[in-house]
Amino acid sequence: MTEFRFARRSAILGSSVFDHAPGTISLNSGAAYPPLLPDVVREAAAAVGQHREEAMQYGPLMGLNEMRDEICHFVAADGVVAKRHNVLVTYGAKNAFDLACRVFVEPNDRIIVTRPTYMTAIHIMRTHNVRFLDIGQDEDGFCTRELEAKLRRLEANAEPMPKLLFDVPDFHNPVGVTTSLARRQEMVALAQRYNFLICEDDPYRRIRFEGDAIPPIKALDTTGHVISLGTVSKTLAPGLRVGWAIGDAGVVRRMAMQKADGGSNTFAQRIVVQLMRSNRISHHISELTDQMRHHRDVMMEALAVHMPEAKAKAPLGGYFLWVELPEGTDAERVVELGVFEGVDASAGRLSFPTDDPGNFLRLAYSFVGEDKIRRAIARLGVAYRRYKQADNPA
Ligand SMILES: Cc1ncc(COP(=O)(O)O)c(C=O)c1O
Repeated sequence: MTEFRFARRSAILGSSVFDHAPGTISLNSGAAYPPLLPDVVREAAAAVGQHREEAMQYGPLMGLNEMRDEICHFVAADGVVAKRHNVLVTYGAKNAFDLACRVFVEPNDRIIVTRPTYMTAIHIMRTHNVRFLDIGQDEDGFCTRELEAKLRRLEANAEPMPKLLFDVPDFHNPVGVTTSLARRQEMVALAQRYNFLICEDDPYRRIRFEGDAIPPIKALDTTGHVISLGTVSKTLAPGLRVGWAIGDAGVVRRMAMQKADGGSNTFAQRIVVQLMRSNRISHHISELTDQMRHHRDVMMEALAVHMPEAKAKAPLGGYFLWVELPEGTDAERVVELGVFEGVDASAGRLSFPTDDPGNFLRLAYSFVGEDKIRRAIARLGVAYRRYKQADNPA
């Protein structure tokens, strides 16, 4: 047997990433709801017909100009003022964040994150060998006071100061909370005072079920301290792999120079340009929002019936429920038992950059419909009771 000399980062996280028995219901990832994936046959035909050479060729590093212009138009509705030179088109928001890390982060640099935060962002940051400066959240979202105290302490001890902050301010993944306007303003003030950049990852912003939208952090930025990471993965289809970064022109140009992809998928960009121009994207978002609201409600009801011990706060938008099991519960073990019952959930551990309290689950209601959500939560309830009986008889 060959003894492969793997890098440490290749260790597989989570036990159920690849293999599931047929019939397993997945609440694991924020995948799109299949019946609502847009039909883009017409747009794809135009892309490889009228725009054949463009769609089949390596593209410009910054993205297609028409795509960049459509993105400026799309975010203007949120109060973000961007010109073409501020926009870099990428293979999704995750790729944009990785490019930002490549431009700013050296090994052992600190990145400010919430505790917990988006699991794939943790994965990306770990590949850059960063240290985390983790900050809590309350019902108003990101705890700026805690951040300020930690920054002051670092400064007083003449420690290296963080260069980046990563956050999901709207319908946070995994917690679901939305950061208030006042906290967003404080975040920008701290970024200016301590000269770090905020990477605002906002894929769920338009999928709001209730309440009024709060301006993006990028809309409050007058000094270039915010990079806004966007994507069509949640508003259209993740398979398109089209996202963007909006920031200072010099910053996004450096990010473009870090690309190793020959200019990001021009075929998909041309499809998205058409969907944005015709405004099909807005109609799609409105239909999707209604569907996701319903999924959220069904999952909340099912939890109350099948897992009354679990605590979850209904998010006002987005794709996930963040579920707290009674203190001391080993959520990872509950997830493992769930796999035997035919449900695949995510243990909270994957979302904690540092210490995991151990008793949280992240459940996506985006991918499966009403019936499967009910069945999946019933199965998870069985797994939880098995856990209590077998593993934790007290
Ligand atoms: C917080 C967050 N950012 C970004 C994304 C999407 O990334 P991408 O645009 O690369 O598909 C997701 C999807 O799960 C997400 O939850």
